Amino acid sequence: MPVKINTLELENVKRIRAVQLTPAANGLTIIGGNNNQGKTSVIDAICWLLGGNKYQPSNAQRDGALTEPMLRCTLSNGLVVERKGKNASLKVIDPQGNRAGQKLLDSFLSELALDLPKFMQASDREKADTLLRIIGVGEQLTQMEAEEKRLYDQRTAIGQIQQQKAKFAAELPNWENLPDEPVSAADLITQQQAILARNGQRQQWQHEMQSIDIAIQNVTAEIQRTERHLADLRAQLDEFQEKAASAHKSPQELMLESTAELEANIADIDRLNAKIRDNQRKAAAEQEAADYKDQYDGLTDQIEKIRQDRRALLNGANLPLPGLSVEGGKLLYQGKAWDCMSGSEQLRVAAAIVRCLNPECGFVLLDKLEQMDLQTLADFGKWLEAEGLQAIATRVSTGDECSIIIEDGWAQNASAFNQTPPPAPYQPAAGFKPYQPKGV
Ligand SMILES: Nc1ncnc2c1ncn2[C@@H]1O[C@H](COP(=O)(O)OP(=O)(O)OP(=O)(O)O)[C@@H](O)[C@H]1O
Ligand SMILES: [Mg+2]
Repeated sequence: MPVKINTLELENVKRIRAVQLTPAANGLTIIGGNNNQGKTSVIDAICWLLGGNKYQPSNAQRDGALTEPMLRCTLSNGLVVERKGKNASLKVIDPQGNRAGQKLLDSFLSELALDLPKFMQASDREKADTLLRIIGVGEQLTQMEAEEKRLYDQRTAIGQIQQQKAKFAAELPNWENLPDEPVSAADLITQQQAILARNGQRQQWQHEMQSIDIAIQNVTAEIQRTERHLADLRAQLDEFQEKAASAHKSPQELMLESTAELEANIADIDRLNAKIRDNQRKAAAEQEAADYKDQYDGLTDQIEKIRQDRRALLNGANLPLPGLSVEGGKLLYQGKAWDCMSGSEQLRVAAAIVRCLNPECGFVLLDKLEQMDLQTLADFGKWLEAEGLQAIATRVSTGDECSIIIEDGWAQNASAFNQTPPPAPYQPAAGFKPYQPKGV
């Protein structure tokens, strides 16, 4: 069970004459009063009593006091802690009546619980580090942040190169309807030779056709001239006619192909290839730009992934207060940085974090709560109660929200302090003589 303050008695410490206080176990106990009456002296006295000699006020004994300071409290774990006598030396008695010392107190005290302003005035980085230390993910998160920064810088550089490359590619010329690779003169000549060879074949066929026709004519004449050899010649005629049938070609097949375009291309080859190389350069530049775009998109995915991992790490951690997170080395509450939180949010965040630093310590001390309006104060008190946390606070006020009022170093019961005094009994004016009827 976290340790809390059950009762408190103070005499002749700083501005205090005599104060007795029984703080609420959970929630807010407000020490009220006007300025300069001794409220902060109560907080200072608790720090000294429990926190040790380093909290000793420079002028601890009240000026004009006839007796030395006396500070005593009982704690919820049964310890009685006392400082009194000439040296105000510490005396700690456990429930069995054994003596103990500062070391035992330190085991369940939290330095920041005694000195919450120290946390509140720390830098953004220190606050974030404190939270990360509590939830135990500091090192992992730092590594993730460094990795995210590295990827981000790399992506920025790649993005710049990608834009330059894309601009360069856009400025290069492009030619329509050309082959992908430059044409060689040898290829064109080979094509030309193939056509010439085919044309040679076709010419040969033509010659053959012509000679066959001549043969037919001769044989026909021979038939006329030589009836005697008609049978032989008919056989020859059949043979030649068969040959003629298989050797027959269509006029289209016999048409000669033109090499004019290829000849023009051979003559124009340098100009042609210059354009083809232009196209190749443009395609290469576009490809390079596209590669850099892919790299950029890949880095964007990686950055998003690492951001998700970072959020998951914090979401999975056991946070002292829902809504706390750390980004860019800053502590955030519901997405707001410290300087964007309201005063009451800051107090809530500080109290929650400080409490987790030493869960054995069940109380925090808060000076100067006057920045909070009554509604916010009530909400903060409810939150403390729900958290099972005891807070002893001071506030420049003599209102009903105060548990006690300090006046000139004395503790007054707050409700008694706020009562309007009863009307004074009737006093006759000096020299007034009551009416006495004559003869009575
Ligand atoms: N040893 C001492 N003896 C007498 N008075 C002292 C002593 N030490 C400090 N004081 C005086 O106590 C006063 C401050 O007391 P304290 O800070 O407790 O008042 P407070 O009620 O918190 O005031 P405020 O509302 O201004 O914060 C100062 O005037 C200071 O000079
Ligand atoms: Mg004060």
